[in-house]
Amino acid sequence: MRPVERADLYAVVRIEARTFEEPWRLSTFEHYLDAPGFLVLEDPESDAVGESIAGYVVASLMRVGGTRVGHIKDLAVKPARQGAGFGRRLLQGALGTLESQGATAARLEVRPSNEVARSLYRSTGFAVAGRKEQYYPNGEDALLLTRELG
Ligand SMILES: CC(C)(COP(=O)(O)OP(=O)(O)OC[C@H]1O[C@@H](n2cnc3c(N)ncnc32)[C@H](O)[C@@H]1OP(=O)(O)O)[C@@H](O)C(=O)NCCC(=O)NCCS
Repeated sequence: MRPVERADLYAVVRIEARTFEEPWRLSTFEHYLDAPGFLVLEDPESDAVGESIAGYVVASLMRVGGTRVGHIKDLAVKPARQGAGFGRRLLQGALGTLESQGATAARLEVRPSNEVARSLYRSTGFAVAGRKEQYYPNGEDALLLTRELG
């Protein structure tokens, strides 16, 4: 696992398109290129062009009052590599990075229907802190999950 490089974005966008109904565009990933928690996990079983990445996580730091809060903004593993522990490693990598940057808490949004992601977040210490109505472009609500760091 390592910080993203611009050259990874083609592979990242390909995974995003295969894992989300409303995928982020390339320009959104470019916006986060310097975010502290934009990490990629190289795919140990593929060096094909555009397939070099197994998954990625995008996390940024926000200031809330006098404290720093990490925000997990995106997390995905390519379908062929899901269920092998990569998502958990990426999430823990991002949380460790946020912690090292002084974040005392982390937050994220998840679709109530995304049982796999919710299970991962629950077992990583996240708990439901609220609900954001019609958060997603298709009108679905989001659950707001938070956990403390440090
Ligand atoms: C959610 C996602 C990132 C998880 O990554 P992953 O590499 O598949 O998950 P892991 O193998 O690390 O498993 C982590 C946990 O997720 C849950 N999980 C994984 N696969 C699961 C499945 N098929 N059914 C139910 N829970 C599952 C389990 O809680 C698992 O922990 P365990 O292995 O200790 O039981 C991945 O499935 C994905 O990219 N999904 C599509 C995009 C997405 O929904 N992103 C999250 C947006 S909020």
